[in-house]
Amino acid sequence: MIHTTHPEPVVAIVVAAGSGVRLGGDVPKTLRLLDGRPLVRWSVDALAAGGVTDVVVVVGDGLQGTYQTALAGAAVPCRIVVGGATRQESVSCGIAALPDGEVVLVHDAARPLVPHEVVRAVVDAVRHGADAVIPVVPVSDTVRQVLGDASTVVDRSGLRAVQTPQGFSRSALVASHRAAAGAEFTDDAAVCEASGYQVVLVAGSREALKITEPLDLAVAEVIVKGRRG
Ligand code: CTP
Ligand code: MG
Repeated sequence: MIHTTHPEPVVAIVVAAGSGVRLGGDVPKTLRLLDGRPLVRWSVDALAAGGVTDVVVVVGDGLQGTYQTALAGAAVPCRIVVGGATRQESVSCGIAALPDGEVVLVHDAARPLVPHEVVRAVVDAVRHGADAVIPVVPVSDTVRQVLGDASTVVDRSGLRAVQTPQGFSRSALVASHRAAAGAEFTDDAAVCEASGYQVVLVAGSREALKITEPLDLAVAEVIVKGRRG
């Protein structure tokens, strides 16, 4: 008998509901243009290139139509839902609207240039049984801890900066976000860790930088030009 194989869905929540105070500008950060395309559209297409099949995009209230337009022609279907006052609340809004799929990624729309290899590595680690996966990069600056008037150098060899997309088994993400309601965590992996799940690290990429300040957008424009060759 011949079986048609359907690839397992890989679903992603793309949080785009922040206002982008540090970047400034007239429109919400995730609608700002990079090489003529909204950041949110770059992020969705970057996830699709790494194997994501369906996306929930979490946006600011009243902006659903604007994001619909920004995402017209995206590489995968996008469901648009309204977010909350914090990133964590916005992720919960996305969880409430998740389509079917046992592998769930959570990604900042503010990381438009994450390479497909990083997305693929996160997906593969969840497929191989990890409940919570984070992409990380080494910390390249010397780091000092300030304690009042004194300060000491921190050994950076053991430090890692955490990026997105973070990947989860659906059950771990859903259960731990429910358990975390009311408490604030720094990211979704920390939410899962608080519920007892182990966090697995994979290699991230400097190109997955988060657009936070104007300089980051300028760097992203350079990366795009470099990719074009
Ligand atoms: N985010 C969200 N809902 C919020 C706050 C943040 O969906 N209530 C999203 C942002 O849109 C962004 C990601 O979380 O894609 C990471 O947040 P950050 O880089 O801090 O973006 P903003 O909160 O928009 O920026 P700022 O803190 O400078 O205002
Ligand atoms: Mg913020």
